[in-house]
Amino acid sequence: MSEVLRLPGLVDVHVHLREPGQTDKEDFDTGTRAALAGGFTTVLDMPNNALPITTPERLEEKIALAREKTMCDIGFHYGSLGDNLGTFAEGAKHAVGLKVYLNNTTGGYTLDPARLKEIYATWPRNQVVLLHTEEDTIDIAMASLEGLDRPVHICHMPSRAVLEKIIAAKQKGLPVTCGVTPNHLFITEEDVPRLGVYGMMKPPLKTKADQDFLWAHLDDIDIFESDHAPHTHEDKAAGAFGVPNLETTLPLLLKARAEGKLTLEQIIDKCFTKPSEIFGLPTDDATYIEVKMEPYVIHNAELQTKCGWSPWDGEEMPGRVQKVVLHGATVYENGEFPTAANPARVLTPFDS
Ligand code: NCD
Ligand code: ZN
Repeated sequence: MSEVLRLPGLVDVHVHLREPGQTDKEDFDTGTRAALAGGFTTVLDMPNNALPITTPERLEEKIALAREKTMCDIGFHYGSLGDNLGTFAEGAKHAVGLKVYLNNTTGGYTLDPARLKEIYATWPRNQVVLLHTEEDTIDIAMASLEGLDRPVHICHMPSRAVLEKIIAAKQKGLPVTCGVTPNHLFITEEDVPRLGVYGMMKPPLKTKADQDFLWAHLDDIDIFESDHAPHTHEDKAAGAFGVPNLETTLPLLLKARAEGKLTLEQIIDKCFTKPSEIFGLPTDDATYIEVKMEPYVIHNAELQTKCGWSPWDGEEMPGRVQKVVLHGATVYENGEFPTAANPARVLTPFDS
């Protein structure tokens, strides 16, 4: 008999489910099936849609679409290009956090960092502002935290240079948290020749030395975030940045655990406890997952994500989710989604 682990339903604060506007890549149905198959019972969706989610109307439209289809609990981050601060009060009512981009990535919605102070002052103080920052913008990002008394989260922190600056800011007592993706923990720039376009993402993969630094400073990294960023094969061939990860994040973390790099307690802390705390999300003891510790091989053809590929295709993992219970209902079991009455909820923060 293989070992079965019971964990709380995992929380992923960083996914791109692409609806509305790019449902050739993913939609709320396929994206949240991928979430359940990967052990995530709560996902927070990013605002870089084809039309960015920078007005309350667009956010409401997106939420209405999600309500019809979502298979797991879902919340939304609002977006800003610096010109919609007058809509923050309304937008924040339906959002969990505010995401702003200091570097170019999918969508091209880069914000002028000169607007950061004003953005921090306008977005509700109990709701997180999430920053996409890389090596060339991290100094501006960290300087913007001086004297701040509101939470700021640094997304998908890729390298030693970025993490060192975050550690320094934390040591000063600044209100900053950070996340890391499986990409930056499990592959490096050395994998890019092998993976080709499927190894292209923002922030880009870094050196083995950078990766070693991240693993050596795991205690300074608050959460694991998948940055599930599906793209069609055609879009990847045309240069799109991003990699899907909802179904591969937990198996990869279990592999690291099997190699002695990580404990189960750390997985629970960084995929459930901390993300729930940082983003003010409700928790439910009747939401949990069962993980079967039996080796299996990741196959593109078996993925739920609409994009149908993974950088880890063909690789063996030590275990995977066999069952997901959401608010007391079994919503996933051995590759099937059994319940007709799925109790998935749309979340707004601090509303439990
Ligand atoms: C993301 C996407 O495709 O939306 N791409 C990526 O490479 N990570 C955007 C992002 O998170 O930067
Ligand atoms: Zn992202």
